[in-house]
Amino acid sequence: MTNISTYEIDIVTSENTKIHDVDFNNLQFGRVFTDHMFSCDFVDGKWQRPQIMPYQPMTIEPSARVFHYGQAVFEGMKAYKDDDGNVFLFRPEENFKRINKSAARLAIPEFPKEYFFEGLRQLLSLDNEWIKPGVGNSLYLRPFVIATEPAIAAAPAEAYRFMIICSPAKAYYKGKVSVLFAEKFSRSADGGVGFAKAAGNYAAQFYPTSLAQKKGFQQIIWTDASTHEYLEEAGTMNIFFRVNDKLITAPNNDRILDGVTRKSVIQLAEDMGIECEVRRVAVKEIKDAARDGSLKEIFGAGTAAVISPISAFEHAEDIFELEDVEDSYASRFKKAILDIQHNLSEDKHGWRYEVL
Ligand code: COI
Repeated sequence: MTNISTYEIDIVTSENTKIHDVDFNNLQFGRVFTDHMFSCDFVDGKWQRPQIMPYQPMTIEPSARVFHYGQAVFEGMKAYKDDDGNVFLFRPEENFKRINKSAARLAIPEFPKEYFFEGLRQLLSLDNEWIKPGVGNSLYLRPFVIATEPAIAAAPAEAYRFMIICSPAKAYYKGKVSVLFAEKFSRSADGGVGFAKAAGNYAAQFYPTSLAQKKGFQQIIWTDASTHEYLEEAGTMNIFFRVNDKLITAPNNDRILDGVTRKSVIQLAEDMGIECEVRRVAVKEIKDAARDGSLKEIFGAGTAAVISPISAFEHAEDIFELEDVEDSYASRFKKAILDIQHNLSEDKHGWRYEVL
């Protein structure tokens, strides 16, 4: 074990690596973690000196508020390596802004920018070997904050822990995804926390999604809570519909996650000369388009999922299958995004952030 103190961060390195036990060709998403983790506590009204240490279990009191009130937010990011060994993040500033926006909504104190970026840099430098080059490979990064203060009291905590853990990743969804359009359950409501990456937003989807899975669908596309007439997001990804040659996606609001991949697709559509309407998307409109053959594609966009084509959907017992289309928008956007992320194409919007 080596103790190092760098710019503002105390580092204890792992004595050995687990990397040789990992089959990088057969990774299950989010199951294997690298040798190190980043941790920073908020106590006495301020964020303390951050630490990087070997990945390990940690001790938290059972009364910690996160366990009782779900005061927790997180982010999803990825690191990519090019063939020359350079390491990149994709639009990390967006993740930094979003975790603090999520935190503010859950009454969690703002995390300092220099700790976030320096923490990522040091962590990736130590776990560099875990980032494999090649399109399709990435290191998934999970920054998160939890309320650690021990207290059974339904009020914001006075102590928190900000952490970053890393997991080598390939595709989140293997193959195509089939979905149910929500008719009864809701993911979020006006004035709620749907826009935030709050842990509870995900937990609340597990039960309805498990019912959908029993019917053979992997995911739910959530509809607006008040009428269930408008399609919003899939929970693990934002959703795009291609009707003829036009793309349609729901607007951001306080119910929908402001996805980094989503906003990249909207920009890339403009670059490619593809019309993209950002507006409410009616369930009826999509079913009508499926019936008259103008619905060409549905795909999800998210950090973990990248771009995931939807092969079928069900609503009110009506099932629609989507046929493969040649030169699909999904495959064009996926390639464009992966090429930028892996330093294989021009980055005209400055989305690539070289870390190492
Ligand atoms: C991501 O896309 O990074 C997410 O956080 C979604 C999660 C369900 C894996």
